Amino acid sequence: MSRKPFIAGNWKMNMTVATGTKLIADLKPLIKEAKCDVALCVPAILIPAMVKAAKGSKIKIGAQNVHFADHGAYTGEISAEMLKDYGVKYVVIGHSERRQYFGENNDTVNQRTLAALKNELTPIVCIGETLTERDAGDTENVLARQLELGLHGVEDVKQLVIAYEPVWAIGTGKTATDAQAQETVKFIRKKLSKMFSVKDANRVRILYGGSMNAGNCKGLMAQPDIDGGLIGGASLKTDFATIVNFDK
Ligand code: PGA
Repeated sequence: MSRKPFIAGNWKMNMTVATGTKLIADLKPLIKEAKCDVALCVPAILIPAMVKAAKGSKIKIGAQNVHFADHGAYTGEISAEMLKDYGVKYVVIGHSERRQYFGENNDTVNQRTLAALKNELTPIVCIGETLTERDAGDTENVLARQLELGLHGVEDVKQLVIAYEPVWAIGTGKTATDAQAQETVKFIRKKLSKMFSVKDANRVRILYGGSMNAGNCKGLMAQPDIDGGLIGGASLKTDFATIVNFDK
């Protein structure tokens, strides 16, 4: 089953209009020949400027979150319709930093995912275990629960992307080994095939995220179940192009 590789950057709370525009301009010629899908998920306020900067390139601009209501009294939030207005295609949902610092849980992840799908945005739904959970042998239970609750009510799982991001590997420089990442992503695909169908599970793109960089991307991308990466730190520099060109 062939799935198109997908490399997505997550700028988190970094960059300005000037630095972001410069980075995208620098990336453009470097990724011209890329065969994979490419996205940069940028801070909401930078979306209009980065959409403009990325025009005519392979880079699609994504958001880092979306509210579940269409509109209303939700101070500080941004709706799917607003994102779509600017040509946003992807939205990261349930990143572990959102779960850890902003009270998000499987239920809010579920509501946001359904809202994104309803509005034809492609959710990049993040799941992953903490170090304590891994050490306790709980990884599979945690991931299964995140999938069951987070994707509750999803009709067509092929319309979303899953990002497996072990919390202990995010921003720590500690990447999961190729084998560890493959084994866990394989489990995620198996779980999706039970929740949906084998056929659909085989068509869902599953990304690895957590200290993925120009040096380790080839090994991770060579794993049969890993279809791409969600890249934090390394998406803030032209190193991102090396990851996008992992097959060169
Ligand atoms: P990192 O972040 O690549 O800096 O570890 C990945 C992520 O949080 O999406």
